[in-house]
Amino acid sequence: MSSGIQKKRVAVLISGRGSNMTALIEAARAADYPAEIVAVIANKADAGGLETARTHGIAAHAIPHREYPSKQAHEAAVSDALRAAKAEIVCLAGYMRLMSAEFVGAWEGRMINIHPSLLPLFKGLHTHEQALDAGVRVHGCTVHFVTAGMDEGPIIAQTAVPVLNGDTADTLALRVLSVEHETYARALALVASGKAVMKDGRTVFSD
Ligand code: GAR
Repeated sequence: MSSGIQKKRVAVLISGRGSNMTALIEAARAADYPAEIVAVIANKADAGGLETARTHGIAAHAIPHREYPSKQAHEAAVSDALRAAKAEIVCLAGYMRLMSAEFVGAWEGRMINIHPSLLPLFKGLHTHEQALDAGVRVHGCTVHFVTAGMDEGPIIAQTAVPVLNGDTADTLALRVLSVEHETYARALALVASGKAVMKDGRTVFSD
């Protein structure tokens, strides 16, 4: 029976294994979840998440950036796929590709990303090494709206984990990943339901 909820159409952009993508697909199965995953797009033909998406019955497209003459041409192809899927929200889930200001602007307030650190700490790559080098005792993940500055957009949700004695970048990455999935599903629900909106460079929350 239909729950009557108006689900927002979501496309997920990936570059690799897609464990966060899978978490969103699984969360979106719940009748009362305010989003449905309608397409998965990878910028790499061998991204493992493509096959996983297909096994979940989700349309999955490889749009390898290497096959396009420019960033602009690649983004035009991604935009076409998003339009064809009638996507209303874009989730970046391990999408390791910087986007142009034009693309980001076109999706402002409707594109979100998960980053494996407690922003604004440790932007960019190798966040777990950065955390260990800095000697912090808590680390974690952040879901934020995507804006022109890398890893800088307004924060929607964060989860902290402890840094334990003897941690390596790998053990810390696993502990962070174990909270990324729930955090991303929670953040997407807030955005898709309109309870978290981007306004004047901030995230505004309502009940
Ligand atoms: C995740 O840890 C995600 O936070 C990170 O890539 C991994 C992708 O894993 N994203 C970034 O570093 C973005 N700057 P997944 O493919 O299993 O979701």
